[in-house]
Amino acid sequence: MRRKLAAGNWKMNGLLADLGQLDRIMAACPAPGVDLLICLPATLIHTASGRSASHPLQVGAQDCHRASAGAHTGDIAAAQLADAGATAVILGHSERRADHHEDSATVRAKAEAAQAAGLIGVICVGETLAERDAGATLDVIGAQLDASVPDSATGDNTVIAYEPVWAIGTGRIATTDQIAEVHGFIRARLIARFGAATGQAFRLLYGGSVKPDNAAQIFAVPEVDGALVGGASLTAEDFCPIIAALDAS
Ligand code: PGA
Repeated sequence: MRRKLAAGNWKMNGLLADLGQLDRIMAACPAPGVDLLICLPATLIHTASGRSASHPLQVGAQDCHRASAGAHTGDIAAAQLADAGATAVILGHSERRADHHEDSATVRAKAEAAQAAGLIGVICVGETLAERDAGATLDVIGAQLDASVPDSATGDNTVIAYEPVWAIGTGRIATTDQIAEVHGFIRARLIARFGAATGQAFRLLYGGSVKPDNAAQIFAVPEVDGALVGGASLTAEDFCPIIAALDAS
């Protein structure tokens, strides 16, 4: 059985003063029936991991460098994130693929670096609206998946997040049929590559405008093991109902 995962992505939001929201999330969910992960700006990881030490909530990061150390001004190595208290890291988010021209080979190298540091890699894939309109969605997802996920990936060290680029931060949500099609495709592709046992063990998250009022319908879709939540993970008021919907699904 795959354990469900509610993952938040604060992106470039949040100051130390905003960690009160994490306290509120932990207080509202003292013993969650699902795994909880909040991926924070690097500046907040150490403080947040200390504050959540006695709660099952895990703290994650949003990117790492592919190298373990060295002359890479401004970058952060996976081992440094782990040292600060992170247990996971988002890799290949569409905002990084777009803003920083990260290709899938880079994402794969980062995923290997994350594994070497003991971090779970949350590897993101997703098509643009132009790609969907051109009927290329499954080709794009398949290519990103094949090239971004390392051969060493397992259900323990890797989570896959399907995030249609056109649904991120737009309030526009994929239909349950669209989510079911892509999640089913990803599951089949992982089984074909890694075999049934390992392929079935990866948790598949949906991401893109997940909100309290649409979470339950998304979590009812087959092969959806949780969500990667951006805007609605910033406050306990929005994130707690999403956690509750996943717990009830
Ligand atoms: P959103 O972001 O929930 O604000 O659409 C999701 C993500 O980018 O991970």
